[in-house]
Amino acid sequence: MVQVIDGKHVAASVIETVKAATVALEELSGVRTGLAVVIVGDDPASHAYVGSKSRMAKECGFNSVQHTLPAETTQEELAALVASLNADPEVHGILVQLPLPKHLHAEPIIQSIRPEKDVDGLHVVNAGKLATGDIRTGLVSCTPAGAMVFVRRVHGDDLSGLNAVVIGRSNLFGKPMAQLLLNAHATVTVAHSRTRDLPVVCRNADILVAAVGRPEMVKGNWIKPDATVIDVGINRVPAPERGEGKTRLVGDIAFDEALAVASVVTPVPGGVGPMTIAMLMANTVIAAHRAAGRAAPTF
Ligand code: GUN
Repeated sequence: MVQVIDGKHVAASVIETVKAATVALEELSGVRTGLAVVIVGDDPASHAYVGSKSRMAKECGFNSVQHTLPAETTQEELAALVASLNADPEVHGILVQLPLPKHLHAEPIIQSIRPEKDVDGLHVVNAGKLATGDIRTGLVSCTPAGAMVFVRRVHGDDLSGLNAVVIGRSNLFGKPMAQLLLNAHATVTVAHSRTRDLPVVCRNADILVAAVGRPEMVKGNWIKPDATVIDVGINRVPAPERGEGKTRLVGDIAFDEALAVASVVTPVPGGVGPMTIAMLMANTVIAAHRAAGRAAPTF
C-alpha cells in the first residue's frame, strides 16, 4: 500500500515542538524568541506569504515584527534596516522576502544578514557549514530542511546504502537538499536540465526528489518500484474541468502514476509546501536557543 505523506500533519507536529521549545526558552532563560520579516513593495503573492509567516510566528509565541517598506525603498535604506535588526538582541531571526523589486540587489542584502540570524539559510556561511557537514551551528534553508524531515520519518537518520536522486541544482533547494542527503550517508546524484537520459538516472533512486518547476514531468515509469518520492514542484496549470479559466496546482511528479509504483509519495498541494513555514519557525527557535547559550531543539 502506497503511503501519501500528509504535509499539514507533519508540519503541525513540527509547530507543536516549536511552541514547546519557545515556552521552555522563555521560562528557563527569560528569552522571547523574536522573528523580523521584511517585505519591500506590494506584490500580492509576496504579501500573502509574509502574512502567513507573521501569523504563524505569533501562533508559536514569538515576538513577531513585520517591516513593510514601500516599493521605492533604496538599497541603502534596506541595508540600514537589516543592520539595525542585526544589532537588535531581541531579534533572533531575520527574513527578507524575495523577490525584491527590480531596482534592488538581493544578494548583498542577504549576505549582510548575520549568519546566526539567517533563518532562511541563504548566507554563504550557512551554505558552507552545510557543505562541510556542520549542521550543529549552521542554519539550513527551510524547504530542503522540511523535505528532509519527511525522508527521516520514512527511512530514519541513516541513509547508508540508499541511492538518492535530486532533480534540480538551485542554491535555494537542489544543492542544500543534496548536501543533507549526503550528510545522512545516502549516495547522491544531482540531476538537472543538462543530464543525459534522466529517466534512467531516476529509476536508480530509492529516494527521488524533484524540484524543477515542470508540471508532472516525472512519469511513473521513471520511478523505481517502492521508492520514496518527494515532490517540491508547485505548478499552476489550466483546469477547464473546473470551469472556464480555472486552474489547479500540480507538482513535478505525475502523482497518479507515482501512486501505482512508489511506496511513499508527497502530494501537491499539501506535501512539502506546509513544511516550509514550519521549518522557518524551527530555525527561528533554534537561533534563539543558540543566542541564549542553550542546546537547541532538533526537528
Ligand atoms: N520567497 C518565496 N519563498 C521564499 C523563501 O523561502 N524565503 C524568502 N526570503 N523569500 C521567499
